[in-house]
Parts: sequence; structure tokens; C-alpha cells
Amino acid sequence: MIGLKINTGNIAGFVETEEIRLFESELSLHRDHLYNKTGTGNDFLGWIDLPSGCSKALLSQIHDDAARIKEQSDYVVVTGIGGSYLGTRAVTEALGHSFTNLLNKTERNAPILLYAGHHLDAEYMHQLLEFLTNKSYSVIVISKSGTTTEPAVAFRMLKNHLENTYGKQGAAKRIYAITDASRGALKQVADNEGYSSYVIPDDVGGRYSVLTPVGLLPIAAAGFDIRKLVDGAAKMEAFLRKEDELFKNPAALYAIIRNILYRKGKTIEILAGYTPSLFYLIEWWKQLYGESEGKDQKGIFPAGVSFTTDLHSMGQYIQEGLRNIFETVINIRSPRTDIEIPSDSDNLDGLNFLAGQRLSHVNKMAATGTMIAHVDGGIPNIEIELPDLSENSLGELIYFFEMACAISGYILEVNPFDQPGVEAYKKNMFALLNKPGFEKETAEIQKRLK
Ligand code: PA5
Repeated sequence: MIGLKINTGNIAGFVETEEIRLFESELSLHRDHLYNKTGTGNDFLGWIDLPSGCSKALLSQIHDDAARIKEQSDYVVVTGIGGSYLGTRAVTEALGHSFTNLLNKTERNAPILLYAGHHLDAEYMHQLLEFLTNKSYSVIVISKSGTTTEPAVAFRMLKNHLENTYGKQGAAKRIYAITDASRGALKQVADNEGYSSYVIPDDVGGRYSVLTPVGLLPIAAAGFDIRKLVDGAAKMEAFLRKEDELFKNPAALYAIIRNILYRKGKTIEILAGYTPSLFYLIEWWKQLYGESEGKDQKGIFPAGVSFTTDLHSMGQYIQEGLRNIFETVINIRSPRTDIEIPSDSDNLDGLNFLAGQRLSHVNKMAATGTMIAHVDGGIPNIEIELPDLSENSLGELIYFFEMACAISGYILEVNPFDQPGVEAYKKNMFALLNKPGFEKETAEIQKRLK
């Protein structure tokens, strides 16, 4: 059985059961297209059976490299952008200690992950290289295309820095490349320099790739149990494949409800969590849904908040702003650790009514109170409940969101597996930077800037 539960009790009044039932035959069509790999974007459906198809050989190669990285390095620079780094960050930050980077080596027992290649900020890169000077570190460079500017530029600098520190051969032992099987510059560099390298399957797109070496190697290097992560996803994979009854299939239910709400003018979905550990999981979700659905002039706008922090910023808008929002909340049943609120003899802060209560209980009451207030304020609420924040549960959640995204994209009648819109900024940037081959675009864009 899966541990993830979806609670749709708080969409009552916004979406009726009968409206959901109307999607039964359409759902069956979309499921057929996905599982038989006949639907739109069907050359990118490799993620569907990734968890069940994850081989022991791959996991053991990853374990060996992760052990080598741990021996070699105190820091690992994960170099990638979009789907090439967000899955790693989502999982490691959800599972990790809130102060990992401040713990000493024995307390954390694994290298610290740092990130590069996810933007073009010069100050960040300068400070990163400055920090890494005289530190022991490795680089995991991830790019499916092998040509994305942000990670390629960062990797050029990191490679240079590593080679200056360890020499060419020493650097090659500290670089791990994850890229396409044959195409792209990164593949060629990895082969020429003899880096340990991994393949991103052709039929898995970036944002669906966390359960390939793209996510698994850095997650293992950070000390987490990737076998359990894959097992959790495989459990969800098997459950969703078998369960063709709409109301019992959480991914189908979520996909359908969000589309009904969208058609009723709820064009923004806010994904909320009640722990900062979920911050990057929400970022990963934003990318998955934003890049999959936002095209052909349609799509639900995916936004994210971290409660209760953002109740003191975005909370006002959610409660009383434009009523074009619905909310999906991830609740974690059992926190990994808890803490009691102490009694105070003076009680000057008036908080003795909470003395002896667990902080997690206060957080839960904040969540319940917020949910009721938002529903009363016209915000439909979908709850996704996880038993805990463990590798297993995260594996379930990741696969659940991926399958729901694919079904939702098909309901929306878009291709959920491409991202043509990402090219527009690149074309202009290359033109402005005088990239060979962009001469015509350079002339055109220069005219516009005069
Ligand atoms: O989901 C996607 O395909 C994208 O977000 C990519 O992951 C991102 O653009 C990075 O691409 P690449 O891995 O080719 O460098």
C-alpha cells in the first residue's frame, strides 16, 4: 500500500463529485495513451517505468561513485539548471538537517552539496570559486543537452579551478558527468577526459529525471538512501498503474480537480508546505508543472509558499485578494523530531496555555486554522498527506506529481513533455553575445536596442 493520501473534502462547494465523474472516460483514454506510449510527446515517456526498471547494477555503480566522492571530498558542486538540479535539491533539502552546512564533518557524515550553473550571477560564481580554493571538492556536472549555457559556463570555470588545484588527471578523478548518451559537448568532454559518466535516458526529459542518475548520484553522495527513494516511487508506480478507478487513483483525482478548478477561473495553484524543508520540493514542483503546462496560451500558473512564514506576506493576498487561486497543501503526518514548549513562571508572553504542547501540534493547528480560513475566503483546498518526510515517502510524492502532471497536461490538451518557450530568451541572449551562427538575429536585436 502507498502512504500518500489525497484529501479532497475541502473542494466541496467549488467542485462537485458529478463534475469529476464526467472525466471517467477521458481519463481512461489518457491512461491508455500514457501506458501504451501512444500519446502526445510519447518519445518522452521513459519516466513512467523508471522506478520499477531501475537496475541493481546502476544503483551499485552510483553507490560506488558516491562512496568515492565521500572519500575524496568535503564539498560536491552540483552543476546544472532546471530539471538537472531541482530534483536533487528538493530531495536533499527535504531529507537533510536544517543546518547541514554548519555541522562539522563527523556530525554530518557526508559531503555538503553546493550548487552552480543554475544562474549567471558573477558575484555568486566568484565567491563560490573563492570559497572552494584550498577546499577538497568534487563536481557533478549534469546537462542532458550538454549545451545549456548556464551549467556549461559554470563547468568551464570549475574545471579550470579543479585542474589548477589537482592537475588535469587529479581533476578528472573528481569530475562526474551526467549527460545524453551520444549528443552534446559534455559527452565529448567526458569521453576525452575520462570522467566517470552516466547516461540520461533519451526518453526522459529534464524535469522528469530525478529518478535517473541526474538525481540519484548527488542524492547518494549527500548520504541519503536512494534504494528507498526508488522503492517508494516504484510502489506509487505500481499502485497508479493498477488503479483505474478515478476516485481511488490520487494522481488522476488531483489532475482532474485542478483542471475543473482552472476551467472555473482558478488559474493559479499555490502549493504550500508547513516546513521550510519543503521549499525546494515546491520549487521542483513549480518547474515540473510550469514547464509542462504553460504553453499554447494556457496553463495553471504554479506558485509556491512556505507556511507559516508566508502567512505573514502572501497570506493577506491569498485570504482576500483576487479569487483566481486554489491551494494544494502538503501535510506531513509525523515530523522526524519534535520539541515541547516549556512553561515559564512569569508568563509575561502569555504563552503558558501552550506549555507542555509539542511544537508540531501548534504547527498542525496553524495548518488546520489556515485551511478553514482560506476555504471560507473562497480558496478551494486540496490536501496531500504524507506519513513522514522519508526517502520512501518522497519517492511516492515525486512519482505521484509526475503522473498527475502528465494526465493534467493531456486534459489541458498540451504536450506536457516539451518546452519550446525556453528557447526565446536563449536566442536573444546568443544574438546579444554575438554567438557564431546568430549574425542575423544580432543585427535585428541591435536595431531594436537603438
Ligand atoms: O525540464 C527540462 O527539460 C529543462 O528544465 C532542463 O532540465 C533544463 O533546461 C536543463 O537542460 P539540460 O539538462 O539539457 O542542460
